[in-house]
Amino acid sequence: MKVDPFLVERFMGKYEHDVELNLAETCVKPFTLGEFLRLVGREDYLEELKDLPLTYGYVEGLPELRERVAKLYRDLPPEGVLITRGAIDANFLVFFSLIEPGDRVVSIFPAYQQLYSLPKTFGAEVRLLHLREADGWLPDLDELSRLVGKGAKMMVVNNPHNPTGALLDGRALEEICNLAEEAGAYVLADESYYGLEISGERVPSMLDLCDRAVVTRSFSKSLSLTGLRLGWIATKREEVMEELLGHRDYTTISASILLEHLALLALENVERIYERNLSIVRENFEVLREWVESELLVDWVPPRAGTVAFPRYHLNVPSEELALRLIREKGVFIVPGCCFEMEGHFRIGFGGSGEELREGLRRFSDLLRELEQGIDLVR
Ligand SMILES: Cc1ncc(COP(=O)(O)O)c(C=O)c1O
Repeated sequence: MKVDPFLVERFMGKYEHDVELNLAETCVKPFTLGEFLRLVGREDYLEELKDLPLTYGYVEGLPELRERVAKLYRDLPPEGVLITRGAIDANFLVFFSLIEPGDRVVSIFPAYQQLYSLPKTFGAEVRLLHLREADGWLPDLDELSRLVGKGAKMMVVNNPHNPTGALLDGRALEEICNLAEEAGAYVLADESYYGLEISGERVPSMLDLCDRAVVTRSFSKSLSLTGLRLGWIATKREEVMEELLGHRDYTTISASILLEHLALLALENVERIYERNLSIVRENFEVLREWVESELLVDWVPPRAGTVAFPRYHLNVPSEELALRLIREKGVFIVPGCCFEMEGHFRIGFGGSGEELREGLRRFSDLLRELEQGIDLVR
């Protein structure tokens, strides 16, 4: 089975471990194990886990963990939760289980590429709902309605959105749900960046608004436990869960029982983690906002939630060249717009260290000045 190259993963995989200043990261500053255990007040926890048999875990996920995940939503029984290896595995399993050749899938664009390339791989007719800067990167719901038509099998959204940081509010989510109900389609809502509103109230999960929702999320982005490689699928649709379980037998058996215990500890302390992480993204957002406002060659639709923004730059230089020069000449890593098939933009993450962000932006401005003056000192 052929797959399209996953452009952002290829680019990140090539450079992310060797750069000095990484402004491409999408997770809120990942914890060290020690920091995490200290934050939740359980520094002796590994000692407590010493008698845990390192056997296969439960196929659907550790029961206590499924219960905790279910409690994040309104009226969701633990049976509506399946533990996965990150949101990437969750999304994969949803497409693998529900999409058949010839199904129509409507997916947003630009987006995390998995959300439109993978259904195509499974033989779907994928229609792209283009998000436009002029609309604040929010979907045009009339256009969505036209694309969905009568026969769509699935609509795919990502809220908060990677790469733009756009945020659909409760009303927009309800309208999308109404369209799905009319069409008899499922809504896959990738909520990997859930809960990271830069200002204002937390937007509800699609699952709490829509019976046709299949929600994916993980411990990576908002919860800073990327290295656990754990996530989940949540749905109230019994027929969906049945398909997911049937397909998952062929891919996973179970997640790591050891890591599921750490994940459980995280959810028992989830608001404490959010408190830490919201303060990081809100503080760093201000640093980035000041830079964009003072940098004449860059402008943006400010992100409303999450850890990433998708500014535009006003220079006649291909985005890949800009990113590679930043890496090679300034030691700064951003993701070029071409990884999202959108020239003239770059994705920048603001969930990491504030100091790294400040210094990275300073060097980015240096490169912009050199490019602007046509000075090509290093190449
Ligand atoms: C929208 C979105 N979904 C899913 C993922 C996969 O992340 P993970 O598997 O670490 O949860 C990413 C990672 O960048 C993402 O941005």
